[in-house]
This record gives sequence, structure tokens and C-alpha cells, in this order.
Amino acid sequence: MKTIHSIAELRDAIGAERRAGKRIGFVPTMGNLHTGHIQLIQQSNNNADITVASIFVNPLQFGENEDLDAYPRTLEADQEKLALANCDYLFAPTIKEMYPNGQVIQTLIEVPGISDIHCGATRPGHFRGVATVVCKLFGIVQPDVAIFGEKDFQQLLVIRRMAEDLFLPVEIQGSPIARAQSNLALSSRNAYLTPEELAIAPILNQTIRTTIAEITAGRRDYLTLQEEAQTALEQAGFKRDYYCISKRDDLRQADSDDTEIILIAAAYLGKARLIDNMMLDL
Ligand code: PAJ
Repeated sequence: MKTIHSIAELRDAIGAERRAGKRIGFVPTMGNLHTGHIQLIQQSNNNADITVASIFVNPLQFGENEDLDAYPRTLEADQEKLALANCDYLFAPTIKEMYPNGQVIQTLIEVPGISDIHCGATRPGHFRGVATVVCKLFGIVQPDVAIFGEKDFQQLLVIRRMAEDLFLPVEIQGSPIARAQSNLALSSRNAYLTPEELAIAPILNQTIRTTIAEITAGRRDYLTLQEEAQTALEQAGFKRDYYCISKRDDLRQADSDDTEIILIAAAYLGKARLIDNMMLDL
């Protein structure tokens, strides 16, 4: 695997692959890679001839009091994992390379509606930062297909909407959530959890499964179910963020007659903010 830090060099390398008729797959990440990320690399390998991964901790998508400085940076270990997974190119730019004119005066990509609820309500400007950096990365890599994890389901919908609205010639694929044996969704941010918190963390997914069991058993009083789940999470030691039984297409509150739904939740545990979701067909 070749690691490239500059846009010009990456363009040369990928341009040559494209001219040779190769289909380009792309997996954007912020590094500190785990099995969930590697699964995206494998999906790209299965859907393209050449896989490009990127590692860039994007300051534009972090709020002022968020974990930009603390975010784990583990480039060497990540390079080894990517090479083992048969990734062809790693693009690891500096902040200056991605934001040569600074982050203040610069084109921004807004995807209103879907960006304003749930994670977007808790983290104002977050999805603007995500959409902007992904659009820039698409401009650099010009992939035929790009893979995003369903763990960040709202992010996947934001990127889909952006690609569709801007007529970007890229296929956006989702990839299922990779979980630990405890069913905890794998996340770079799990590194913030103490051993005690790590024992509590799987309760987020257990709570989602409990809600699913209630719905499957016939309950449709979604607002009450959500409140019950929030209370259970608080009793377990989480602080609330959101917990929503949502329509799968726009993540708005589901109605009792909706058939394609998703339970989507975020909760604070110690220094970490955990997110998870599960889909349900009725
Ligand atoms: P990051 O959190 O590093 O995640 C990179 C990709 O891995 C995302 O598509 C995310 O959904 C996926 N992913 C993370 N954990 C996963 C899991 N347990 N199972 C499946 N997929 C998982 O998401 C970002 O970075 C950034 O916002 C980015 C898109 C790179 C833009 O900066």
C-alpha cells in the first residue's frame, strides 16, 4: 500500500489507475481503525479494482468543546491494518493541504433538513463539516463508489442527499454495523471509556433490542416506548441525548403505520458519546 500526503501526488496516482480502466473505490475515515473500518475496505475491494482510504481528522466537523485534540491518532498502526486488508492507497493529508485558505473563508456544503435533527441538533455544524470535507475528498479522489458505515446512519443519509443533489458521479454504498461480542457498536471513541463504563456501554444496544421486542410484540405507542428507553438508559448510568423510533428515509419520528423504521439513539457515558441504531421492518 502506498501512503500519499499531497493532493497533486494522489491525483497523479489515481489518474493513472483510472486511465488504465480501473474502477476506484473510496473509504473516508478519521483513522484509529477498527474492524468496522476494515469491513468497509473489504466491501470496496469487492466492488472496485482499486481501493483508496483516507485518514483525516477533520476540524470542520468538530464543535468548539468537542474532542478534536483528544481524538486518537494512530497512523502507523492504521497503515499496517490497511495494508493487511489489501487497501491500495492511503491518502493522509495535512490540515493545510485540505484547507489551504483556512477554515473560515471557504465553500461549505449544507444539507438542510436531515442535518438539523438528532446528531445534527446536538452537534450544530457537524454535518456541514462532514458534507464539506467529503465533497472535497470526492473532488480529490473522484471515486466510482464510496462506502460509508450504517453506524453513522444519519451521516450516510446526508452524504446520499449531497451526492444526489449535486449530481456527483459516485455510487454511495452503506455497510452494516460491526459490533463487539457484547453487541456494542465498534467506535474509535470507545477508547474514551473506562473499564467500568465499557461494561455498561452494551446496555445502549440492549435497550434498542428491548424496544424492538416491544414493537414486534405489537406496541405502537412510540413516544412512551422512547421515554421508557431513555429512563432505562439513565438508570444504567447514561446521560440522555436522543432516542427515536424513526422513519428510515428521513429519520423523522415514525408513525404507528410506518413499515420501514429505524431505532436510532445517542447517549453520553463518561467522556464518550455513544451512538447506535437498528432497523426494523413491520
Ligand atoms: P470515522 O468515524 O472514522 O468513520 C469512518 C467510516 O467508518 C464511516 O463511514 C463510519 O460510519 C464507518 N464506521 C465506523 N464505525 C463503524 C462500525 N462499527 N461498523 C461499520 N462502519 C463503521 O465517519 C467519519 O469517520 C467521518 O465523519 C468522515 C466520513 C471520514 C468525514 O470526516
